[in-house]
Amino acid sequence: MEVIIQRDKDAASALVARIVANELRANPRLVLGLATGRTMESVYRMLVRLHREEHLDFSQCRTFNLDEYVGLSPSDPRSYNQFMYENLFRQVNIDLRNTHLPSGLAQDLDGECRRYETAIEDGGGIDLQLLGIGQAGHIGFNEPLSALRSRTRVKALSPATLKQNGAQFGGEDKMPRRAITMGVGTILEAHRCLLLATGESKADIIAQAVEGPITSMVSASALQLHPRCTVIVDEAAAEKLKGKEYYRWIFENEPEWEGYR
Ligand code: F6R
Repeated sequence: MEVIIQRDKDAASALVARIVANELRANPRLVLGLATGRTMESVYRMLVRLHREEHLDFSQCRTFNLDEYVGLSPSDPRSYNQFMYENLFRQVNIDLRNTHLPSGLAQDLDGECRRYETAIEDGGGIDLQLLGIGQAGHIGFNEPLSALRSRTRVKALSPATLKQNGAQFGGEDKMPRRAITMGVGTILEAHRCLLLATGESKADIIAQAVEGPITSMVSASALQLHPRCTVIVDEAAAEKLKGKEYYRWIFENEPEWEGYR
């Protein structure tokens, strides 16, 4: 795992967008794993800008999203399908047939989860997976105690997640109780993972995920097992990390990051 600390949210999001753009330029048929949530909005805004100003080409790119709420139709404005459409897909030249999210309306939800895993496999696996982190440490909707080898499945949302996302539904009680999510095991198979966390509300959980023990109580801690995972944080989210000076030293000295400093 590598940790990169940027001065603020804009700089952290811009770095994530630049890494995605560089990977996409190197491989126009990139398979991107996508996340939703407030943290990702600025990353998508910057990718849209790169598309408009620097002709970043999404025409051959394929995408798989981490998760979708059970019970919401893809056209529901609160669905992750719509989130992706509004924040990225409709603003770039991506072929919508190449974009994939689990269907929260499937009659057979377990069958839908298996179908989604097979679609990822048939697509050649995920090259670059974007991740946010929930206040209780989830990646995707892998709530505390998610098995570290779990695959795409239906998960009950934890009280912390209901609280975190309730406002978007006009209250926790109006929110879906379950979601389909890629598993921790599915995420760990991505070739490269990029986790973005910003703001002081993420400082505690980032410290646990990066410097704490690997535990299913904090799903993001499983990323310590990943051979190529970069955690990008702003100063506020880095506040509780003990090894800050060491992480800064690596970023300054590692040749891989030369073009990004
Ligand atoms: C959403 C997802 C979640 C979010 C996390 C952080 O697709 O996978 O894990 O990334 O809940 O959400 P925000 O960015 O809203 O704090």
